[in-house]
Amino acid sequence: MMRDIEKVLITHEEIVQKSQEMGQQITGDFKMCTDQPLLVVGLLKGSVPFMSELLKSIDLMLEIDFMDVSSYHGGTQSTNDVRILRDLETSVTGRHVLIIEDIVDTGQTLKKVVGMLESRGAASVKVASLLDKPEGRKVVLDADYVGFTIPNEFVVGYGLDYNELYRNLPFIGILKADVYA
Ligand code: IMP
Repeated sequence: MMRDIEKVLITHEEIVQKSQEMGQQITGDFKMCTDQPLLVVGLLKGSVPFMSELLKSIDLMLEIDFMDVSSYHGGTQSTNDVRILRDLETSVTGRHVLIIEDIVDTGQTLKKVVGMLESRGAASVKVASLLDKPEGRKVVLDADYVGFTIPNEFVVGYGLDYNELYRNLPFIGILKADVYA
């Protein structure tokens, strides 16, 4: 895999450190919401490594669940055809929900998911994303918690894929152009 990487953008150590800081911030922000456990919703599959790192530093009663929502259909360009591939098992009505995402690019995926959970009656819906690519934005959507803001480049690793590969890289990297060719 390393042969296909042009450059490492964010190291594993930086991700771990940032996840700890974000987890502490989330703990402080939600500690007053004691009526029900926080519901942490991971968006499959890209959020999984970041979610497992972040959860270790959230010191609150919480439940986890997953949704699979796809706006990329194999390539490097997001589409606004956002498909729900797997829905939550948990009812969000009256719950404080924290969505965990790997990256916000166009914002279309999260806009759809946030709107859906709000319309189901969630008490609040917040978003924590490992990465943010603000130059890619096509809709108004900002994550409440962002690990790293990155330039408008296609990245892989730490959950992020190209054609389902590279998710297991322990860092965020930029692929060599000839990998797409
Ligand atoms: P959005 O709807 O355009 O914000 O796209 C969000 C989803 O697109 C993310 O959850 C990723 O799965 C995927 N995505 C966006 N940018 C990248 C990237 O640079 N590398 C890999 N996947 C990406």
